[in-house]
Amino acid sequence: MEAIVVQGGRPITGEVRVGGAKNSALKLMAAALLAPGVTTLRNVPDISDVALMAEVLEHLGAVVTRAGHVLTIDATTLVSYEAPYDLVVRMRASTCVLGALVGRLGRAHVAMPGGCNIGSRKVDMHIRGLEQLGVRVSTEHGYIDATGRAHGADVVLDFPSVGATENLLMASVLGEGVTVIDNAAREPEIVDLATMLSSMGAGIEGAGSPVIRVTGVEALTAVDHTVVGDRIEAGTYLMAGAIDSGPVTVTGFDPAHLDVVLQKLEQAGCTLQRGADRVTISRTGPLRAIDIQTLPFPGFPTDLQSLFMTMMAIADGGSVITENVFENRFIFADEISRMGADVRIDGHYALIRGVARLSGAPVASPDLRGGAALVVAGLVADGCTVVTEIHHIDRGYEGFVDKLRALGADVRRVDADDPDAACVPGPSAKE
Ligand code: UD1
Repeated sequence: MEAIVVQGGRPITGEVRVGGAKNSALKLMAAALLAPGVTTLRNVPDISDVALMAEVLEHLGAVVTRAGHVLTIDATTLVSYEAPYDLVVRMRASTCVLGALVGRLGRAHVAMPGGCNIGSRKVDMHIRGLEQLGVRVSTEHGYIDATGRAHGADVVLDFPSVGATENLLMASVLGEGVTVIDNAAREPEIVDLATMLSSMGAGIEGAGSPVIRVTGVEALTAVDHTVVGDRIEAGTYLMAGAIDSGPVTVTGFDPAHLDVVLQKLEQAGCTLQRGADRVTISRTGPLRAIDIQTLPFPGFPTDLQSLFMTMMAIADGGSVITENVFENRFIFADEISRMGADVRIDGHYALIRGVARLSGAPVASPDLRGGAALVVAGLVADGCTVVTEIHHIDRGYEGFVDKLRALGADVRRVDADDPDAACVPGPSAKE
């Protein structure tokens, strides 16, 4: 068991490059199942969720190889249509093979998901949508069982669910007739998936808008595709720069994918310089308290909510965060409160009163983004912060500690059982 130890108070500055988006790469890997032949994915982050998705694909019969950030997936022969519980329970996103298996084989048997500890993440819209497309779906013994191919239908989602939109897209590209997905999710990762599917030969119009129209085709071919830059990883380092005052330059992503976040950072008192694939953030005055509410894209992403709470924890004044996407994403508040933050939760509202300083403490990552936010909080906290349960962070951040060290932070991975290794200030990677 490892932990991340942060000595607060060492300023961070410099440039950091983000990798390909986790939330895109995982779905593109599933999409590779739709075509026999070898799919090449570039800019794939080296994170544990990608390794787990590779295991799921290999279980289905695909051959997955990695060289650096290039992944090849040979899906010529599939030997199974089952995504077993022991794999799905470790990563909810593996349910995205449901749509791909229905598309390719007309058959899928996928365990009901577990996943991040951030609320009851249901799959009812995935199931209802598939049924509307003519696929027979039953849920028994903890599995979703789907039989049949999709035929054209109009599906209106209750909520623009990212996962449901992706599963319906992947099920319908090899279906019959025209499928319309209304109230579809508009996230950049959906656009990335639709772009890859289109280059494979799929007939997709409207991805990135609330109405996606899919005209089924008989076959798709394997392609070479580069994963879109990770806007959430970018937002993480930008908020670290905002909290610590910077300047920090983050490259490797499209600033348009973070528009609302960048506007909120400016309202909070940060100065931003936008480039085509980069943003530089700095701050000279205090952080101003402002309110946000999380919403589906293009709204403020729920995945950056805990980072934003960390910013507001040391801002001048009081702010309100309204969480509209996941009900339990405030469990992070308990941990940041242990570092001296003043946060009160009332339903899906968090009320934060800024404090002058956070203080280093032993804390545990509640989930992927919450874990990263605790490390970032440690950068400006008094003394030493020890963050445990860091397997959550490894799910989605490649080289998190190395990238922060390259910016000048005093942050290390240590053996969680070795107290002597913890809380001893280390040399800066910049020195
Ligand atoms: C994806 C992202 C996650 C991000 C989220 C919202 C991946 C691997 N994960 O998750 O990082 O925070 O989008 O941007 O891409 N819901 C239902 N029924 C359903 C489906 C969803 O009630 O059938 C609810 C969920 O419980 C949740 C909300 O809808 O409250 C949003 O979920 P969804 O957009 O589907 O998120 P994910 O695809 O799970």
